[in-house]
Amino acid sequence: MTTRRLVRRLGGLAFGGDYNPEQWDKAVWEEDDELMRRAGVNLATVGVFSWALLEPTEGHFDFGWLDAHLDRLHANGIAVDLATPTASPPPWFTLAHPDALPVSSDGTKLVHGSRDTYCLAAPAYRGAARRVALALAERYGDHPAVAMWHVHNEYMTLCWCDHVAASFRVWLHARHGSLDALNEAWGTAFWSQHYTSWDQVLPPRATQWHHNPAQTLDFSRFWSDEALAAYVDQRDAIRAHSDRPVTTNLMVPGYQNLDLWAFGREVDVVTIDHYPIAPGVDAAADTAFGGDRARSFGGGRPWLLMEQGTNTVYAGDRVLAKEPGEILRHSLGHVAHGSDGALFFQWRQSRAGAEMWHSAMVPHAGADSRIFREVTALGSALGRLGELAGSTVRAEVAVLHDSDSWWAMNSDGLPSAELDYLGALRRAHRALWDAGVTTDFARPDDELSRYRLVLAPALFLLSDASAENLRRYVAGGGTLLVQHFSGVVDARLHARLGGYPAAPLRAALGIRVDEYRPLGRGEQVVLSDGSHGTAWSESVRLDGAEAVATYTGGMLAGGAALTRHRFGDGHGWYLSTRLDDANYAVLVDRLLAGTGVGPDLPDLPFGVEAVTRHAQDGRRWLIVLNHTADVVPLPAPGHDLLTDATAHELPPGGCVVLRLP
Ligand code: GLA
Repeated sequence: MTTRRLVRRLGGLAFGGDYNPEQWDKAVWEEDDELMRRAGVNLATVGVFSWALLEPTEGHFDFGWLDAHLDRLHANGIAVDLATPTASPPPWFTLAHPDALPVSSDGTKLVHGSRDTYCLAAPAYRGAARRVALALAERYGDHPAVAMWHVHNEYMTLCWCDHVAASFRVWLHARHGSLDALNEAWGTAFWSQHYTSWDQVLPPRATQWHHNPAQTLDFSRFWSDEALAAYVDQRDAIRAHSDRPVTTNLMVPGYQNLDLWAFGREVDVVTIDHYPIAPGVDAAADTAFGGDRARSFGGGRPWLLMEQGTNTVYAGDRVLAKEPGEILRHSLGHVAHGSDGALFFQWRQSRAGAEMWHSAMVPHAGADSRIFREVTALGSALGRLGELAGSTVRAEVAVLHDSDSWWAMNSDGLPSAELDYLGALRRAHRALWDAGVTTDFARPDDELSRYRLVLAPALFLLSDASAENLRRYVAGGGTLLVQHFSGVVDARLHARLGGYPAAPLRAALGIRVDEYRPLGRGEQVVLSDGSHGTAWSESVRLDGAEAVATYTGGMLAGGAALTRHRFGDGHGWYLSTRLDDANYAVLVDRLLAGTGVGPDLPDLPFGVEAVTRHAQDGRRWLIVLNHTADVVPLPAPGHDLLTDATAHELPPGGCVVLRLP
């Protein structure tokens, strides 16, 4: 799992994007060659949605057009990230195999006309996907242009059809062993759901009221495994004919259909697609959130930003444009957090089709445009940063991130709609980012002793083994902050009895929660230190811990809200409400100060980000990004690789990459 081979082949950081020449003609290809050279592109992702051209009729492949494009790119000095086209089956496929079409949870069968119209569990689809991957690998496995393989595109679709039901039963049988065990795990004694034969067991299709939460959790686990198996099918077909690294582009942060930790173990290089969901400084924080997750899914190794938009900021019901300078700054944001390059969707903005308004490296306006000029500037900037390739990012703080908890928190019937897994994760990361601290994500069962501070903002589901792991972490000297409604269910999504959270964690925290009290919408609780909480409160009994702040009103008045427990060589903190952002930031700052964790570059103003990349041989680079509109002096001058000169300050929106002595 490393970018080593790729960056060696490219001679530095990767720069380029999805290239779909099949949408254009020869005159445009010739211009593409010239513009790619001018921009400094060195990697193009080819063929992502080209199944209909590659296999015009079932089992008959036409490689002529692809041969020509790969040869042309190669002659132009551009390496290819060759994609399998399986995210968009052609119309002939869906007509020939109607049973392989996806069925939504309400029983609606979807048809072709968009993309991703397949069911990952349908044998006809899986067979066809493997066949096209194999055909590509046989033909291009040793092609000199091919530097990497890109399997599929964003495994993110779901299906509830009969193939899925059959496959789900096989998975359940393997997990639970028997129908009795399944009945026990799913708590089917409630609502008369007891199963007496396997064929009664279904995926969680549309039903009358709440789904059984254990059933939906198992379905999420199953689906992620199914998607991973579909990836591995293609990967192995490719590996039989090619020694180039294989990946699939993961979508972060919003899509949670996959256990990205599991995908991180199976890809040769973690690659992600990232589109910020808010403008300004928030976009920079979101970029860091995506990048830190990508790095963590790959075990800390360098990863690659596979897609971003040149001029795309998703903001609810509209797509906002990027400000001048953000193409460079967002890209360097990804590099700062460990990406060995910056690629885009897509090279040339489509003239027709469903994504014709999606921004691109060459916009509709052509090369004489702000966008293309900024793209070219980015290409030359990345060209000067080749020495960073392969270096890594180090963190002393981790935020716990667990797919099971995320999926479980999506279940029906939770006591408050304000229990938001992703929101809690983002808030924790954002508080650390605002404090200038580089953050890893970790799983609750990871070896955590290398972190001085661990935040657990949303650990709803906690297995016995993970609870024990967290207890051990604190006992061994770590500082752990656990937040409300954590550790309240076990791995089967059964409530912890006798008080929350799970017993080993109660010991580490020195508390016992005997009642949760969700707050009304807009309701606020005031704590004794003057801070405010919303959404949630709990009755916390002290069992060794001290109350750092108490509730000041209502039934919980005088009861502990924030606690600290000296346990073994470490400290367990517990926060039983959702603090306002500013109060939460104060708490996180206090924990950072207590553990001696600081920013890579202290005393920077709000909105200025600094991250260090470390090479194995001891070389280091400090990437400083000014997301503000002010001139920011650097604490110490340094040699900036971007300008090859000594930098003393950052202009508004500016970036420097300093080679540290
Ligand atoms: C994803 C896909 C691309 C494109 C972009 C649009 O990342 O992989 O094909 O649809 O989204 O933002």
